Amino acid sequence: MDLEGLFQRMERVEGWFSLDEAELLAEALARSMAELAEGELVEVGSYCGRSTLVLGSVAQALRGEAARLKAIDPHLGEVTFEGASHRATPTLDRFNETIRGGGLADTVELVRARSTEVAADFPIAFIFIDGLHDYASVMGDFRHFEPQLLPGATVAFHDYGGAHVDVKRCVDELVASGALAFAERRDSLAVLRRPPAQPRKTVGRAFALVAQLRAGALARARQAEERAVQALREERERAALAERAAEESLRSSTHLETALQEMASSSAVRGARLLRQLSPRGNQLAAGVVNRVLALLGRK
Ligand SMILES: C[S@@+](CC[C@H](N)C(=O)[O-])C[C@H]1O[C@@H](n2cnc3c(N)ncnc32)[C@H](O)[C@@H]1O
Repeated sequence: MDLEGLFQRMERVEGWFSLDEAELLAEALARSMAELAEGELVEVGSYCGRSTLVLGSVAQALRGEAARLKAIDPHLGEVTFEGASHRATPTLDRFNETIRGGGLADTVELVRARSTEVAADFPIAFIFIDGLHDYASVMGDFRHFEPQLLPGATVAFHDYGGAHVDVKRCVDELVASGALAFAERRDSLAVLRRPPAQPRKTVGRAFALVAQLRAGALARARQAEERAVQALREERERAALAERAAEESLRSSTHLETALQEMASSSAVRGARLLRQLSPRGNQLAAGVVNRVLALLGRK
């Protein structure tokens, strides 16, 4: 697409649209067309076609013969000047000349009417609002088409800020209310987006299912971890018991050793008693020896 040539042509058309604004408008439309395959492209307020030329050329470059841009304007030459509406020279001839000269006759659909006279019965992907600039007109243009805006649709307003305080007030109110979200501004062109709709029920259900699956997996992981910790604890307890039993056994055999030494050194009775103390603790070897020694001594 010959953007340089397009902007040079645009600058020959009467109007107030700046080059920077034209670049942003072209970019916003291109992005919108890439994101939304459905929905109409609409302009409210064409005047001599300065902005229409940019929008129509981008649409045509991206969608070829299928491209359509609804350009809504009564072409009575009515513009806002110092906050009030002024009727100047009608613009239809100059508009048609711009469209023909830009090779956009099949792309731009002229809708010669006021915005609110147009039946808003088509979904909208992109709308550029540049009609009258008093509060009631700007808000009226937007509200008329608002129900048809697709989720994620682009809404651009010209004359945001500067002398046209009402345009800024409208846009700021729409942003504050959540109806639109600010995307970008260049000179007095403000580009906004219709926030995407709430997640559809099916999508919502899918999210709920994912959350449920995650919660289940998390609970199972926690249980497995608890079981592993418990098994480790039991293993440690068993090891400690085994260690204590080994120490006990060592102590018992030391006592046994002492007892046998006592008996060998004829302190047989003391030795036998010591051994007997050991027997209730389950030292079978000691118990056997006790019984045998006591039997030998005839003192059982
Ligand atoms: C500021 S000029 C548009 C400039 C144009 N976008 C450009 O880039 O050169 C405003 C235009 O809005 C048109 N207009 C006024 N009231 C309108 C309405 N209710 N619906 C649509 N267009 C309207 C006027 O006829 C006028 O041509």
